[in-house]
Amino acid sequence: MRVAVLYGGISGEREVSLSSGKSVIQALEGKGHEVVAIDFHPERAEEIFNLDVEVAVIALHGKYGEDGRVQALLELADIPYTGSGVLASALAMDKARSKLHFEKAGIRIARDVLIERGDDIADKVRQWGGEFPCVVKPAQEGSSNGLTIAMDDAMLRSGIELAFQADDAVLIEQFIKGREVTVPVLGQKGAEKALPVIEIIPKNEFYDYESKYAVGGSEHICPADFDEVTTQKLQEWAVLAHQVLGCSGYSRSDFLVPEIGHPVILETNTLPGMTATSLFPDGARAIGIDYPELVESFINLAIT
Ligand code: DAL
Ligand code: MG
Repeated sequence: MRVAVLYGGISGEREVSLSSGKSVIQALEGKGHEVVAIDFHPERAEEIFNLDVEVAVIALHGKYGEDGRVQALLELADIPYTGSGVLASALAMDKARSKLHFEKAGIRIARDVLIERGDDIADKVRQWGGEFPCVVKPAQEGSSNGLTIAMDDAMLRSGIELAFQADDAVLIEQFIKGREVTVPVLGQKGAEKALPVIEIIPKNEFYDYESKYAVGGSEHICPADFDEVTTQKLQEWAVLAHQVLGCSGYSRSDFLVPEIGHPVILETNTLPGMTATSLFPDGARAIGIDYPELVESFINLAIT
């Protein structure tokens, strides 16, 4: 099959995407596919219209890749593509708005205050109410880019400034102390299945950029060691999160599991990392799907 692989891109997660793309290309070539590799740049978007391929595999992360824009371009070019459509991609990319959908579906979320560019920051900080520690993050970023944990008012102010460098909207969010887990979801619309729960043990204080991508930066435990009730809840909520956002094919939802009470969802990734150290391939391997098979299943879900 002639397959385009879109990777790289211009988001803060470019390096991750180059790595995801490289692994995806290698896997597809290993399976005998003819790969057209495209380091995607919006200024060269026109080349998408001249692609003579049967399907596009999107190995981009973050803005202009995971947020619905590339998906819209592929729709216009009439090329089937892997993963979620325009609306679900855009919605999932926006942590503030996706949380409204999660909450409505009964999935537990962390309390937050959204600050959009132009808002009165002092007023928003007052609204937050001085609960520390708290998490400050850009509403539309990935891989913990621009994310800080604030212990006091001064750190909150500087965290907001930093997050605004990455995005036009910033979230102040309740800090949940808990085990960090993620749940991949795979399957056709209405018949999605959760893969085994994966626990992440970061070497750093939290699962930051370095823990995510440095070799040995974190340890993945799959399947994670939770009681049956917690495991079921995590898997049920990962599928529900995928469905309420209207995702297609695959996604991976991140949660925190506090010592007491239900898990708390952090976000759903519509184009989760596919690097050699990434979580989704680990989850698939745990049920006997190797990396090349996984990429092929994304393609099959896209064209059937
Ligand atoms: N945003 C990165 C790629 C992930 O969630 O895997
Ligand atoms: Mg993410």
